[in-house]
Amino acid sequence: MGAASLSVRLPAGVVANITTAPILAAVFDPLLANPFAACWIALLGTIEVRDIRREIPWYGTLYNKFSNVIAAFAASLALAATRPAFAPDDPLGTTIVILIVGLAFIATNVFLAVVAVSARTASPITRIWAMAIRDALFGATAQVFIGWLMAEVGLRVGLWATLLFMVPLLLARYSFTKYAETRALFFGTVSALSQAIDAKDGFTRGHADRVSRIAGAIAREMGLSERHIEEVELAGMLHDIGKIGVEDQILMKPARLDPHEQQLMRRHPIYGASILEPSESLRPLVPLVLHHHENYDGSGYPEGRKGEEIPLGSRIIIVADAYEAMTSDRIYRKAIGHDRAMEQLNRYKGIQFDPQVVRALATLIDERGSQAFEVSELPPINYETLAELRKRLAREPLARDAHAG
Ligand SMILES: [Fe+2]
Repeated sequence: MGAASLSVRLPAGVVANITTAPILAAVFDPLLANPFAACWIALLGTIEVRDIRREIPWYGTLYNKFSNVIAAFAASLALAATRPAFAPDDPLGTTIVILIVGLAFIATNVFLAVVAVSARTASPITRIWAMAIRDALFGATAQVFIGWLMAEVGLRVGLWATLLFMVPLLLARYSFTKYAETRALFFGTVSALSQAIDAKDGFTRGHADRVSRIAGAIAREMGLSERHIEEVELAGMLHDIGKIGVEDQILMKPARLDPHEQQLMRRHPIYGASILEPSESLRPLVPLVLHHHENYDGSGYPEGRKGEEIPLGSRIIIVADAYEAMTSDRIYRKAIGHDRAMEQLNRYKGIQFDPQVVRALATLIDERGSQAFEVSELPPINYETLAELRKRLAREPLARDAHAG
């Protein structure tokens, strides 16, 4: 079955493919009377190009096969249990049977995939499960019905006719690919934008990226929904985007800002909000970005909001931002380390920081260690900030540039 070689990588590291329909066709095929026959189809029919080229390790191959076989077995059991309850020509009954069998297959498959991804990435099962089951149901439900139709057509018209189903299956695969690509493009663009701000600001490369991951982890620890966690992560990445509206001589001033300059600098959350506002997909981040410098006791800016009046996402980002700033090296000072950073957060909780958020961060680090956020997905390149690059290029002659122009 060529279908297996056309798998698509979806978010959260779960791979979607179009093998569900052919495997379920085998499950629904009444000529394959026992559940083990469907298992053999699942085993042999899903051999992939990646297996043969040995692009995935042998235990990966074994696990993929194993999860398809187990899922096919679960689906066969679900079929055996539910089919006798309805007459074969009962349309509603047949639909219910198809849905139950499909759900048994998808849930088993996703569960096994999630366990593997969770073991590989050390992220909690619940988080990956929530994302993966939503994507799998979105992607595979149509395949459940196509699988049943394939079995019926194979039985009534002939096996050759099942090949015609490759057309809708390939179309389905095309839309998975587009979905995955669009998502990757969106996150890639947001990440590039956030790195541009880091560079201009003289921050260490990856500051915004780390703030985003710390904020996301806190949001998860506090039990926010997946949609809100994603918003906090994106807002964490873009929280300082408004700094591109602050004059360079203030933003890059090596000395302390005077009170007037400080006032101008404090406009950056307002600039940030107005930059994000026009984009429909970024609009939910506007309140989070606008209020990321509000202090818990009302002494922050731009509105001087207090406690619960500050969006929870902003209360999380201010803690993540402070923790990241204290635990990473800067041009003008060394990192103070995890223990002293936590000490500072605890000292200012209830004043600058929401005590609940500080507690969530402390629990998180107790559980996963202070290295919990050290892994970055950014390529480890030898960076220089925009400020450093400007200084370096300023020393080089401009003659070549003039020629080019
Ligand atoms: Fe900021």
